[in-house]
Amino acid sequence: MEGKVALVTGSTSGIGLGIAKELLKNGCEVILTGSRSKENATAAINEAKASGSVVHYIQCDLSCQVDTLCNEVDKIYPGGIDILVNNAGINFVKYIDEYPVEKWNELIAINLTAPFLLIRHCLPKMRNKRWGRIINISSVQGTISAPGKAPYATSKHGIIGLTKASFFLLRSDLNQDLKKISTFNNEHILF
Ligand SMILES: NC(=O)c1ccc[n+]([C@@H]2O[C@H](COP(=O)([O-])OP(=O)(O)OC[C@H]3O[C@@H](n4cnc5c(N)ncnc54)[C@H](OP(=O)(O)O)[C@@H]3O)[C@@H](O)[C@H]2O)c1
Repeated sequence: MEGKVALVTGSTSGIGLGIAKELLKNGCEVILTGSRSKENATAAINEAKASGSVVHYIQCDLSCQVDTLCNEVDKIYPGGIDILVNNAGINFVKYIDEYPVEKWNELIAINLTAPFLLIRHCLPKMRNKRWGRIINISSVQGTISAPGKAPYATSKHGIIGLTKASFFLLRSDLNQDLKKISTFNNEHILF
């Protein structure tokens, strides 16, 4: 992992910050992201910096600013990143017949469309380097569902499909050691 560059979405807290810290401990340079301002992300940035040397932060609302994120990433790393972790996700629980359409659109944009757009942006440069790793965080709701969780479960089922499709594309594009897809309790990892 030494010298590899990772972009971890939703890494100002929770699972994303934990993943970022592990990548840093293993020698990666890491770009943290969140919708909060850099000032409000100071605690997370400092926590990450305690685990490794090179930490960047890009503020981006993934419901509507993925282009901005891609442009900022390209400015820092014109050659592209090596590891993309699509972790950011939100949940909002309500029965379908009461679910606000704008909330559905926001959730699908963050949980599903943003990962698609980021894979779409990162793949060509991974192809050029003939190396890349994409990790998409799903959920147990990616295989089952529960009352009030239709949009979340839809997004998490969807990201498993996106992961499988990306796997076949990357395997044929990169012709590398991409031999299997592993399913974990709340994540799908593409090796
Ligand atoms: N926690 C669980 O038990 C669990 C179980 C299964 C799956 N998951 C999945 O694991 C992932 C992480 O979960 P978590 O519990 O660690 O979440 P979390 O602590 O709530 O963190 C969510 C992250 O996403 C970012 N985020 C939220 N809205 C955003 C937006 N509009 N634009 C950009 N970033 C945004 C947040 O940053 P800001 O606050 O700065 O916006 C934060 O860094 C999610 O995909 C979730 O669905 C979690």
